Amino acid sequence: MSSYVVAVAGATGAVGREMLRILEQRRFPMKKLVPLASARSAGKTLEFAGAQVTVEELRPSSFAGVDIALFSAGAGVSRQYAPLAAQAGAVVIDNSSAWRMDPDCPLVVPEVNMQAANSRPKGIIANPNCSTIQLVVALKPLHDAARVRHIVVSTYQATSGKGHAAVQELLEQTRRMLDGGPANASVFPCQIAFNTLSDWKAGEDDYSEEELKMVNETRKILGDQTIGISPTTVRVPVVNGHSEAVFVRFDRPMTPAEAKSLLRGAPGVVLVEEPYGPGKHPQPVNASGTDPVYVGRVRADLAIAGALNLWVVADNLRKGAALNAIQIAERLFC
Ligand code: A2P
Repeated sequence: MSSYVVAVAGATGAVGREMLRILEQRRFPMKKLVPLASARSAGKTLEFAGAQVTVEELRPSSFAGVDIALFSAGAGVSRQYAPLAAQAGAVVIDNSSAWRMDPDCPLVVPEVNMQAANSRPKGIIANPNCSTIQLVVALKPLHDAARVRHIVVSTYQATSGKGHAAVQELLEQTRRMLDGGPANASVFPCQIAFNTLSDWKAGEDDYSEEELKMVNETRKILGDQTIGISPTTVRVPVVNGHSEAVFVRFDRPMTPAEAKSLLRGAPGVVLVEEPYGPGKHPQPVNASGTDPVYVGRVRADLAIAGALNLWVVADNLRKGAALNAIQIAERLFC
């Protein structure tokens, strides 16, 4: 089997570190890892496959000889450097929002639309937003059977989705406040411990950017601009693992029994079939560190006949980011 030179831009960040872990766990065929970050991290070492690798400063020249460039260092970095990596001959898989809605960049979830990755005029494949990935993995089998018409989705998103510093703030703030101290928020706009927040930048029409990403990315990935999506995104004081309450209505009525038969064994999905009981549902503490999208609480809506409600949980750093990117690379190269 061939082996590849893989660069990770943002290797010291929350998603970047997860990328290294997953490359190692899945034994991605690599002859060299090139860990890249800002000048602040140059010279630091990271553990990879039992050895210490030295972080290099990301520069325009970083991509000579690189086959696959995984980016997770923010949209600004991706806008600047992803085209340079592609020009140098690498296939870029970019986890930021920079290229997702570019018509010349496929937006790919392997279980849903892997074929889109074959056409990449800019040499850049975009990895969707974490909350969108778990939603479309759960809905794809249902969409194929009955065509999704309208989704109402409310998210319960972990702090790790905002990066390493955000997790640290949750932990330190919780400790400080338990000791009677002040919240002292700096990464989040206000207190996240013991609270819920909408901390994303403003988008349009009083929706956050995160909410609009869910609308636009879901339509692009499912290839249907007519799907209605009503999103509310919320940050909760969870370290890792996003949860979503999803209402979905189809072109025709769907029963919970049919939905369960479609979801059972669907790619990337673990169906949790247990009937409702306190605590008997997918939870971020269990999903964290694992690969699947867990779908539970599949039940008929009480107001709209033929519509369903679902509860969807996944590790946002893995399936929501690093794992999805590496699964794309595996399908292209392995
Ligand atoms: P660094 O650790 O040197 O700041 P997170 O999402 O957890 O906040 O991580 C962001 C990642 O993106 C880190 O690896 C960070 O590196 C990297 N990064 C941020 N800004 C830049 C930049 N201008 N050039 C290269 N890497 C960057």
